[in-house]
Amino acid sequence: MNILAIETSCDETAAAVVYYANGTFDVRSNVVSSQVALHAQYGGVVPNLAAREHEKNIVPVLREAMTTAAMTPDAIDLIAVTHGPGLIPALIVGVSAAKTLSWVWHKPLIGIHHIEGHIYAHMLTTHTRSAFPLLALVVSGGHTQLVLMHNHFQYNIIGQTLDDAVGEAFDKVARMLGLPYPGGPAIATAARRHSTKYPTNTADVAPDLPRPMLHSKDYNFSFSGIKTAVLYSIKDFCTHHALAPDTPLPQDFVDAMSYAFQEAVTEVLVKKTIRAAQEYNTKTITLAGGVSANTRLRTRLAESIKKNIPHAAYIIPDFTYCLDNAAMIAAAAALRYEHMSDDAHTALTQTYRTLDASAILSMTSLQ
Ligand code: KG4
Ligand code: ZN
Repeated sequence: MNILAIETSCDETAAAVVYYANGTFDVRSNVVSSQVALHAQYGGVVPNLAAREHEKNIVPVLREAMTTAAMTPDAIDLIAVTHGPGLIPALIVGVSAAKTLSWVWHKPLIGIHHIEGHIYAHMLTTHTRSAFPLLALVVSGGHTQLVLMHNHFQYNIIGQTLDDAVGEAFDKVARMLGLPYPGGPAIATAARRHSTKYPTNTADVAPDLPRPMLHSKDYNFSFSGIKTAVLYSIKDFCTHHALAPDTPLPQDFVDAMSYAFQEAVTEVLVKKTIRAAQEYNTKTITLAGGVSANTRLRTRLAESIKKNIPHAAYIIPDFTYCLDNAAMIAAAAALRYEHMSDDAHTALTQTYRTLDASAILSMTSLQ
């Protein structure tokens, strides 16, 4: 089947055409128009500005996705759209476009949960061979969760953050250090600079930061303590070096702090993921969400799985599918469709009348 998918939950306007048959995906087009440069001036996403950009870009992005895939409307079998969670003004643009196309082209329409898309992103490259139980470490700008799945679309959230999402913590710490938005890639680059500069004593010349909840018996996380520790370290540094407020911090200090922050966060994420994978005897471990693009997290988790649970498969999304994109929405939609009853398929022909964008939406398991 050919799926046309749309994603506008935050600051990327995205559309993709994906062909799916017999457990295999072929991404025919995957267009992402990023608004990062626009929002960077404000240090974060401005919802109404995002909506206006989506409104401007949605038709050109859809056209490009269809043209690149050499697709005609009649060859589309299913339309999929992210309907939450996210910024309402942004979501509404994608949902309205999808509802209109579904109505005009007489195609079934399916609403997909944004995080479900992130979880299914790794299947775009590995197809559907991921064995269950599957454990997904979800790390995005709005979510940090450990999701255990015993089958397709059966979600059990065994742990989550009690305060900031990990991507949000990256963004906030970056801002404290004077690094640009989005903070994740900026911190990763600064941390790499530190390791390159001090290849033999990398950790010794970086500050010590706490590892909150590392030893708690549950699978929950907390990142606000690390963030506060960074803030106090910056204050101490400024006092000690008599730096006036708003003076840019020296690069050596920024790099060392970025390294320390990234190490603290990845250690907690990796250790808890490994412990959960051991307890639940998971066969597949995956990463999902924007922070899954973090190379240090990807490799630390790989090393730890190899050492502690070598029988488990570690399957993570290609870099292309880590950040927000519509191909991942198509992947989740294709598999959801495949697991639905005939009655449910028929109901999708009427979704264009009822689908709503929702800022807070829970992931629903398929009945
Ligand atoms: O999944 P995503 O694109 O949007 C949401 O669904 O929230 O995730 C965005 C988050 C941002 O907080 C960004 O700083 C973070 O992912 N991020 C990274 C990296 N690339 C993006 N964090 C750490 N390292 C990266 N390389
Ligand atoms: Zn996302």
